[in-house]
Amino acid sequence: MKFFIDTANLEQIKEAQDLGVLDGVTTNPSLMAKEGISGDENVINHYKAICAIVDGDVSAEVISTTYEEMIKEGEALAALDNKIVVKVPMIKDGVKAIKYFSKKGIKTNCTLVFTAGQALLAAKAGATYVSPFIGRLDDISTDGLALIEDIRLIYDNYNYSTQILAASVRHSAHILGCAKIGADVMTGPLSAILSLLKHPLTDSGLATFLADHAKAAGK
Ligand code: E4P
Repeated sequence: MKFFIDTANLEQIKEAQDLGVLDGVTTNPSLMAKEGISGDENVINHYKAICAIVDGDVSAEVISTTYEEMIKEGEALAALDNKIVVKVPMIKDGVKAIKYFSKKGIKTNCTLVFTAGQALLAAKAGATYVSPFIGRLDDISTDGLALIEDIRLIYDNYNYSTQILAASVRHSAHILGCAKIGADVMTGPLSAILSLLKHPLTDSGLATFLADHAKAAGK
């Protein structure tokens, strides 16, 4: 399973990249705003800075909501770097835009997906990635991981090449659930990725090993 980091924070992207387990980055307009990035030029420069750090796909979301505008904006984003994946919302014009980008060989990430039906449409339109938001479903007492299971089953039934990019991942249990089901990618915050490291027996075991080593060495 590929690991993407879901942030526009350059320091966190660098930290995940340095860990050696990062396969890509996803951003969205809220994450860009959180970093104080606004204005066309700043936004473009920020995407370029992200692409310079990471080895892998970088999702950049369109702000437009009409077909014509999404095409124009998406083509400009894709021209920035061959790592750029144009992130398109799951709306009618978005599906049309994904079809257009797919024919042009431009990578896409269909975002804001909350049902298997939406994921089926995204695959039929030729999306490179589909982003079901599992954390936001959990927030409304709906099983986010069950959606990943449904999409996996449907995509496997028809050999769709669209990759399942489990999004809105919040913690290690989400990551492990996605890995068990067979999501192609998960995207989450740095905290979720680092939480995979943690176990109290690892910490106490290491402390004991180091203490025993020091004792044997007469320190
Ligand atoms: C998807 O690509 C989105 O950026 C993201 O995963 C949303 O996560 P959130 O629900 O934690 O905002």
